[in-house]
Amino acid sequence: MDTRSEFSSRFGFLMAAAGSAVGLGNIWGFPTQTAENGGGAFVLVYLFLTFVLAYPVLMAELLIGRHGRTHIMGSLNKISHSEASRKASIVISIYALVVVSLILSFYSIVAGWMLTSFLDPVARLMGLDNAATWLTNFSLERNLLAGLSFLILTVWVINRGVKDGIEAWSSRLMPMMIVIIIGLIAYVLTLDGAMEGLRVYLTPDFSRVFDPDLVISALGQTFFSLSLGVGTMMIYGSYVSRKENMIKLGAYVAVLDTSIAVLAGLLIIPAMYVAQHNGVSIYAADGALLSGDTLVFSVLPQLFASLGSAEIPLSLFFFALLSIAALTSSISMLEVPVAYVSENSNFHASRHRASYLLALIVAAMVIVILFNFESLFGLVIAFTTQISQPLIGILFCLYAGWIWHRNSVLEELAQGNPEVANSLFWRVWPNYIRFVCPVLLGLVYWQSLS
Ligand code: TRP
Repeated sequence: MDTRSEFSSRFGFLMAAAGSAVGLGNIWGFPTQTAENGGGAFVLVYLFLTFVLAYPVLMAELLIGRHGRTHIMGSLNKISHSEASRKASIVISIYALVVVSLILSFYSIVAGWMLTSFLDPVARLMGLDNAATWLTNFSLERNLLAGLSFLILTVWVINRGVKDGIEAWSSRLMPMMIVIIIGLIAYVLTLDGAMEGLRVYLTPDFSRVFDPDLVISALGQTFFSLSLGVGTMMIYGSYVSRKENMIKLGAYVAVLDTSIAVLAGLLIIPAMYVAQHNGVSIYAADGALLSGDTLVFSVLPQLFASLGSAEIPLSLFFFALLSIAALTSSISMLEVPVAYVSENSNFHASRHRASYLLALIVAAMVIVILFNFESLFGLVIAFTTQISQPLIGILFCLYAGWIWHRNSVLEELAQGNPEVANSLFWRVWPNYIRFVCPVLLGLVYWQSLS
C-alpha cells in the first residue's frame, strides 16, 4: 500500500481548499441569487450566515476529516462510538455521495456554458462566425457537448492525483482572477447605469432581511460556496498535515471565498444595470429576474463587447480563468466518491477506475437533466443546495458536537496549534457547534419548509 498523500505545503492546501470553494458559486451563483433576492438585503444575510453558521461547520468538516484521514464514511465512523452512530454514518455518507454527484451534474452543465463562453472568442478570432453563434445560443446539443466535455476535463485532472492535479491547478489562479475582477470593477463603475446597480447592491432593504425565502437561499448559497455538507471539505481536511493550524486555515478559506463572491457581485450587479441602461431587459414587469441561470453569461460578454479591441483577448482570458476555477471546484466534488470507492477495500478499484466509473454515472445524470432542463435543472439545484447541504450540515454539527469525544476533538485541534486549549476558539466553538449551530440551522430549515 502506498502512503496516503498530503498537500505539500500550507500554501498548497490553502490554494486547493480555496480552489474548491471559489468557483461558479462565487461568480455565477452569488450574483444571480443577489439579483434575484433584491440586492443588499441578500448580501447582508449571506455575510451574516457565512460567519455564524458556515464557518463553524467548515471547521467541523476540516477537523473530522483530518482526524479520520480517509473518505467521508470512514471519517464519520472513526469518531462514532456506538452501533447507532456507526449505522447513521453509513446512511449519511451515502446520502452525501448522492448529493455531491447531483451537484457535480448541474455544475458540469453551468461550467459547460463557461467553456462555450471561452471558445466563442476563439472561434471569432479564427473567423468561424457560425461556430461562434452556435456556441453562444442555448441549445440541447451545445449544452450536452459542453457539459460532458467539462466532465471529461474533470476526470482528466483528478486522475493526476492530489499533488500534481489539485494543487498545481489551484496555485496560480486565484491572484490572477482577483486582479482581473478588480480591474473590471473599476471599468464598469465608469459606465452609465452602474451607480444604480451599486446602490442596489450596497443598500439593504431591511424589511426583506427576515424573508424566509431569502434566508434559505442565502444559507444554501453560503453552504454551496464553501463546499459544505457533502464531505468535500472533510476529504480536503484529510489531506492536511498535522503540523498545520486548522483554525487559521479554515478562516483563510472562508474569508477568501467570501471576498471573491462579494467582488464578483460588485462587478456583475452594476454590469447588469449597465446592460439594462443600454436597453436589455433584466427584470420582468413583476420584478422577477429574467433568464437568471444564464444571465451572467450574457451580461459579461456584453460588458466585454463595449471594450473595443480589448474584447477578444479579455473575454478569452477571463473565461479561461473561470473555467479553471470551475475545474478546481469540480475535482473537489468528484474527489468525494472517488476517495470513497478507491479507499474502500470492498470495491477493489483503483483511483483511475473509480473516477471513470463515477464520471459515467454523473454523465448519465447530466444527460437526464439536460433532456428535461425546464423541470429538472432548478429542482436539482434546490434539492441539493437548499435542502440537502444544510441538512447534512446539521448532522455534521451533531457528530462534531455530540458524538465525537471532546478530548479527542481537543487533541486534534492541538495538532499544529499547541496553545489551543486557552484560545477563544476552544472556549466558544465546542458548545457553539453542539447547541447553537444545529438549533439555528434547524430553525432556518424549518422556516423554509413551512
Ligand atoms: N464551492 C464551489 C463553488 O462555489 C462549488 C463546490 C465545490 C461545491 N465542491 C462542492 C459545492 C461541494 C457543494 C459541495 O463553485
